[in-house]
Amino acid sequence: MSKGTFYITTPIYYPSDKLHIGHTYCTVATDAIARYKRMCGYDVMFLTGTDEHGQKIEEKAKAKGVTPQQFVDEIVAGKGGILDLWKLMNISNDRFIRTTDDYHVESIQKIFKKMYDKGDIYKGSYKGKYCTPCESFWTESQLVDGKCPDCGREVHDAEEEAYFFRLSKYADRVQALLETGTFLEPASRVNEMINNFIKPGLEDLCVSRTTFTWGIPVTFDPGHVVYVWVDALSNYITALGYLNDRYDDFDKFWPADVHIVGKEIVRFHSIIWPAMLMSMELPLPKKVYGHGWLLIDGGKMSKSKGNVVDPVVLAERYGVDALRYFLMREFPFGSDGSFTNEALITRINSDLANDLGNLLSRTVAMVIKYFGGTLPAERQMDALDDELVSMAGALRDIYEKNMEAFAPQNALIEVFKVISRANKYIDETAPWVLAKDESNKARLATVMYNLLETIRITVSLLVPFIPESCEKAFEQIGARPEDCVWDKANIFGVLPADVSVKKGETLFPRIDLAKELEALENLNAKNAEPEIPTVTIDEFAKVRMTVCKVLECENVKKSEKLLKFKLDDGSGTPRQILSGIAKYYKPEELVGKTVVACTNLPPRKMMGEESNGMIISAEKDDKLNLLMLDDAIPAGATLC
Ligand code: MSP
Repeated sequence: MSKGTFYITTPIYYPSDKLHIGHTYCTVATDAIARYKRMCGYDVMFLTGTDEHGQKIEEKAKAKGVTPQQFVDEIVAGKGGILDLWKLMNISNDRFIRTTDDYHVESIQKIFKKMYDKGDIYKGSYKGKYCTPCESFWTESQLVDGKCPDCGREVHDAEEEAYFFRLSKYADRVQALLETGTFLEPASRVNEMINNFIKPGLEDLCVSRTTFTWGIPVTFDPGHVVYVWVDALSNYITALGYLNDRYDDFDKFWPADVHIVGKEIVRFHSIIWPAMLMSMELPLPKKVYGHGWLLIDGGKMSKSKGNVVDPVVLAERYGVDALRYFLMREFPFGSDGSFTNEALITRINSDLANDLGNLLSRTVAMVIKYFGGTLPAERQMDALDDELVSMAGALRDIYEKNMEAFAPQNALIEVFKVISRANKYIDETAPWVLAKDESNKARLATVMYNLLETIRITVSLLVPFIPESCEKAFEQIGARPEDCVWDKANIFGVLPADVSVKKGETLFPRIDLAKELEALENLNAKNAEPEIPTVTIDEFAKVRMTVCKVLECENVKKSEKLLKFKLDDGSGTPRQILSGIAKYYKPEELVGKTVVACTNLPPRKMMGEESNGMIISAEKDDKLNLLMLDDAIPAGATLC
C-alpha cells in the first residue's frame, strides 16, 4: 500500500551549453532522494526538464545560424544531449518538461493573464543601463567597471515598457513563510534571504520584455514576451496539468514536497515563487532545499576557464554508479565542495573497490570455497556476532533519519560503517581457520550467513545511489527481489538458511590512481587547447598586415552576419572586405576607425560580393573586438 504521494523536482536546466558535473550533481541527488522515497513506499512524481526561452538562447542560435527552436532541440534531444545524459546517469524522472512544450506555453499565458486580472501584474517602465550592440539591459551592480559585462563597451541609461509583478505586496507573507524555519533549508539560507533581500525591501519584478522575441508572447500585448522566471518557475505546476489538458495530476501532487535547487537560485524559489503562488491563490510548496556548489580550484566551473568537468567522460571511465556514489558521498549536500579527480578516484577505490567490493567478493568466494556455493542450514551463534548483527539491524532507522534530513552523505557514511564492521568481522572470526576443522561447520556457516545478511541490508540501502550495482550484488548473494525491500532492511535473518551464492563480475575494479590522473590531465589538456602548428619566420613574413581606415561600412543584404567595408589601405584605391561581425558591431560605429587587415589573401566571394582580405579581430567566449589602432597611424602602414 502506498504511504502517500511525494512530489520532488530539480531546477529546469538552461540548454545553452552542454551540462557539466555540477548539473549532474543536482540531478543525481534529486534522483537518489526520489528513489529512496519510492523504496519507502511513496507514490513519487519526480520532475526535471529544460528552461528554453530567453535572450541568451536567441543569441546563441543566431550565432550558430539556426533558429532558437533548432538550437534547443539539438542540446536537449540531440545525440549526447540532456536527455541522453540523464539516461546515461540512470535518472529515474517520471516526467520531463520543456518550456517550449505547447501545453506549458498555454498555461503560462493563462497564468500571466490570471495575475494581471488580479491586479498583481501591471504595466510600467523598466529603467536600466542599456548596451546598444548587445541589446541588453543591465543593472548598475551587473556592470563590470561601469561597462557592459558581456562585451565591455559603454552603456547608457534607457527605459523600456514592461510588465511588473507586485512582489512588494507579498513581502510580509513571504518573510513569515521563511521564518517558519521548515520552508527553506538548510537554515543558513533563511538568514541570507531575509537579510539580503527582504529587509532591504522587495522591489516589484520585471516580468515581460520587448527587446527579444524568443519567449512566450503575452496574449493581451503581443509585443511583449513573458520574462524568464515566471515562465521557468511555473513549470512545477504546468507539468502537473495546471491550466492545461495535457496532464491531470495537479490535485494529486500539488503542493510539491520539495524543490531541490542550487544555492544561487534559492532566491527565486523561496521569495518569487511563493509570492507568485500567493497571487494565484495556490498552496505553497512544502520545502525548498538549496544545495551547495561543486567548485573547481576553489571557484566556479566555467567554459572560459576551461575547467568544465564532463560527466560523460567520468561515467564512461569509472562507471555510472561509481560517479553517482562519489557525488553523493564526497560532499555535504547543503555546502559547497571541491571537485578533484584525485578525490573521485580515491573515493571509488577506498569505499567501493576496497570496502564494499572486497566484502562482497570475499564472502561469495568463501561460501563457494567452503560450501560449494550453498550454505548448510545448521547454525552456531557466538558473542562475536552481536555487534555486527545489532549494527546491521539498526542501520535502516539511522539511514532514514539522515535521508529525511536531506543528508545523503551522512546516510552513506552510516552504511559504510556497517560495511567496514563486516570486514573487521571477517578478520575477527577468521573463517579460513574455522574451515580447517569439520567440527566448525555450523559456526563457519553462521559467519557466512551473517556476512551475507549484512551485505543484503547495506546493499538494499544503497539502491537509491548505485541501483545497477546493487542488482548485481543481490544476484551474487542469492537474494530474491522480495528480500531486498525497505520493509526487510531492518530485519536480520531474511535470506533462506540454505541460501546459494553465485560468483559474478567484480563490481568496482580498483583504479590505478597515478595512471588515471595522468590520463585525465592529458584529456583535459587536449580539450582545452587544440594543437597549434608552428610557422617558420619565412612563412610568417609572407603575411601582409596593413593598417586601414574605415571609409564606409554597411550590412550585407540578406545576411545576418556580414558587414561590407570600404577601406583606405593607403594604395589610393578603396579596398572592399566582408567580415562576419554584424552581431558585434553596428556599421555606423565603425566608420572612421583605424583597423588592421590581412591584405594578401586571395579574393573570395561571399553572398555575391567580393572580399579582398580579412579584418583582424580578437575573439573569446562569444565576445569579439576588432583590433583598432591609434588614429595617428597612417593608412597603408604595415605591421612588422
Ligand atoms: N534555468 C534555471 C533554473 C530554473 S528553475 C525554475 C537555471 N538553470 S541552470 O542550468 O543554470 O542551473 C540548473 C541547476 O544546476 C541550478 O540549481 C544550479 O545551481 C545547478 N548547478 C550549476 N552549476 C553547479 C555546480 N557547479 N555545482 C552544483 N550545482 C550547480 O538556473
